[in-house]
Amino acid sequence: MSDIAVLGAGHTGPIIARMGVETGHHVSLSASGDPQKIALITQVLVPGAEPRWGAEAVRDAKIVVLAMPLHAFQKLDPALFEGKLVIDIMNYWPPTDGDQPLFDVAGRGSSEIVAEGLAGATVVKTLNHIGYHDMDDRRRPAGAPDRLAMGVAGDDPAAVARVAALVDSFGYEPIVFDSLAAGRDFEPGSPVFGALMTPAEFLAALVPAQRAA
Ligand SMILES: NC(=O)c1ccc[n+]([C@@H]2O[C@H](COP(=O)([O-])OP(=O)(O)OC[C@H]3O[C@@H](n4cnc5c(N)ncnc54)[C@H](OP(=O)(O)O)[C@@H]3O)[C@@H](O)[C@H]2O)c1
Repeated sequence: MSDIAVLGAGHTGPIIARMGVETGHHVSLSASGDPQKIALITQVLVPGAEPRWGAEAVRDAKIVVLAMPLHAFQKLDPALFEGKLVIDIMNYWPPTDGDQPLFDVAGRGSSEIVAEGLAGATVVKTLNHIGYHDMDDRRRPAGAPDRLAMGVAGDDPAAVARVAALVDSFGYEPIVFDSLAAGRDFEPGSPVFGALMTPAEFLAALVPAQRAA
């Protein structure tokens, strides 16, 4: 049984899977189809992770990371996610996602819509606002002066605390928000999206954004 199933084996999935393996978890990695197609990249990029069919990986995992393009989300079977803790790292990015009417809703965050679609799961939004190229090499231990902030937002306090601990162990300073709606503050278009910020910089950048909202 995997602790963590990462769905998506593109830019970000393998990095998150590697952070999981390096912090002692049993991690599976899945793309949209046959795991044999990602066996080599798993072996090279994430030694120790297990390539698996997505549905089987989700069924067996405690935590599922959605690291796929948002346009692929609607093809998921919500029944598979019943009772799972889901970490949503996805962003609505029309240049790659195309126009997605489901997510094109003013005043709603993409993770809120994901959570509605996966009603039996507990969704936490994080790991979405730092680019994949930085996500790996900007990891720092707690207390490092250049440790970066990572927003963690969700409606379930226990799930948020669990994911915050995971983010902390991965090498980022979790900045916790007590609602999934608050995760809108670190979506594309926000001042912190794609920026590399210490916790103080992150919080300072969010305050004017919240006042303008
Ligand atoms: N790129 C970044 O810097 C970055 C940083 C933070 C967050 N994000 C977000 O993370 C998400 C993924 O971005 P990316 O750049 O890693 O995407 P990407 O490189 O395009 O990779 C997409 C991966 O998702 C897989 N996939 C598609 N449908 C799937 C399904 N049903 N089950 C399992 N895997 C599936 C694809 O597999 P196939 O090849 O088999 O289709 C592919 O391996 C996006 O929502 C993005 O906004 C990206």
